[in-house]
Amino acid sequence: MSQAASQPKLQKAKRIEAVPPYLFAEIDRKREAARARGVDVIDLGIGDPDRPTPDHIVERLRKEAGNPAWHRYPSYVGAMDFRKAVAEWYRRRFGVELDPAGEVMTLIGSKEGIAHIVWAYVDPGDVALIPDPGYPVYKTHTLLAGGRPHIMPLKAENGFLPDLDAIPADVARRARIMFLNYPNNPTAAVADLAFFERAVAFCREYGILLCHDAAYTENTYDGYVAPSILQVPGAREVAVEFHSLSKPFNMTGWRIGMAVGNRDAIASLGIIKTNTDSGQFTAIQYAGIAALLETPESFLRQMNALYARRRDLVCDALARIGIDVRKPKGAFYVWAPVPAGYTSAGFTEALLDQAGVIVAPGNGYGEHGEGFFRISLTTPDDRLAEAVERIKTKVRL
Ligand SMILES: Cc1ncc(COP(=O)(O)O)c(C=O)c1O
Repeated sequence: MSQAASQPKLQKAKRIEAVPPYLFAEIDRKREAARARGVDVIDLGIGDPDRPTPDHIVERLRKEAGNPAWHRYPSYVGAMDFRKAVAEWYRRRFGVELDPAGEVMTLIGSKEGIAHIVWAYVDPGDVALIPDPGYPVYKTHTLLAGGRPHIMPLKAENGFLPDLDAIPADVARRARIMFLNYPNNPTAAVADLAFFERAVAFCREYGILLCHDAAYTENTYDGYVAPSILQVPGAREVAVEFHSLSKPFNMTGWRIGMAVGNRDAIASLGIIKTNTDSGQFTAIQYAGIAALLETPESFLRQMNALYARRRDLVCDALARIGIDVRKPKGAFYVWAPVPAGYTSAGFTEALLDQAGVIVAPGNGYGEHGEGFFRISLTTPDDRLAEAVERIKTKVRL
């Protein structure tokens, strides 16, 4: 028998085919090809803080890592001390009271919780209300779970907020879950409490779990302070909020976040998690306590001043080539329309070919992202300045 004939055929699950193609794969290929040609490529595509985690957090991990008690399996739902610290941080930051025992759960990064909550609420055929453009995990896991995404377009004319009145009543009745995310990735839009009140009322009316992805509430500018959805009276009867230490404390590599709010949702998420993972390393959770409760306010002020400076640099450079964007008040992205005559992919390619600069094409975040591109402000100042200079001088429109 030849080797080819003896190869067993492995049949993959159909759900794998339901996952949309990875739209950034082509860009990755082009970036590598440009680098191979010797082009000094500057990547403004990734949203990953370039500055290090503050020393007091690293020091705490160093100390806790030596504790043999933490070398055994961690708690599934998270160390009680970390959950208490989360509750204390929510009280200080948002004026929201949480019960650490039933309303807080440690996550291995907020992405993990966002992915798993879908499995706790969406049966095959159930509707999930998904913002588009949006963080891809909401839709991908809905598809993996056999759910039906109902797209809520985020349009510039609505301040990139979904139009809840446009959701047909029969769709809302079949919906089990709604995702929102403000400050928003990728549009950098912000939402006020009045919008959250409308969303909570909508989800209460239809019995929908409202999942607010709050990863960027601490990265805000020009005096804007982002609310928690749990500040809305009665929100915890329908809402759960996903938060993360990744973006405020430059800890994307540490993989720690939290789910807070509705007790039932936290308990249901716990059922999925206890059967999937075994919790986050307890030493990291103790370092997380240092992040939440011992980080001086000046740290966030300085980080946000840095992002605001970079934002201004980018927005001013874009204005010079005729792309006008309102300076965003939150997240660390600039979401800009592509020049006339370009698609998102076409303009992304032109920037790479003419300036050696990578940006994220808007359609990578959903069909309503077409016509936009996203620049991330998490690149060191000198590289960002160089990228901006190249955009100003080399891009022909
Ligand atoms: C909107 C949004 N939510 C959640 C996450 C996940 O963050 P983490 O898993 O690091 O907490 C990201 C990461 O980029 C994000 O942009």
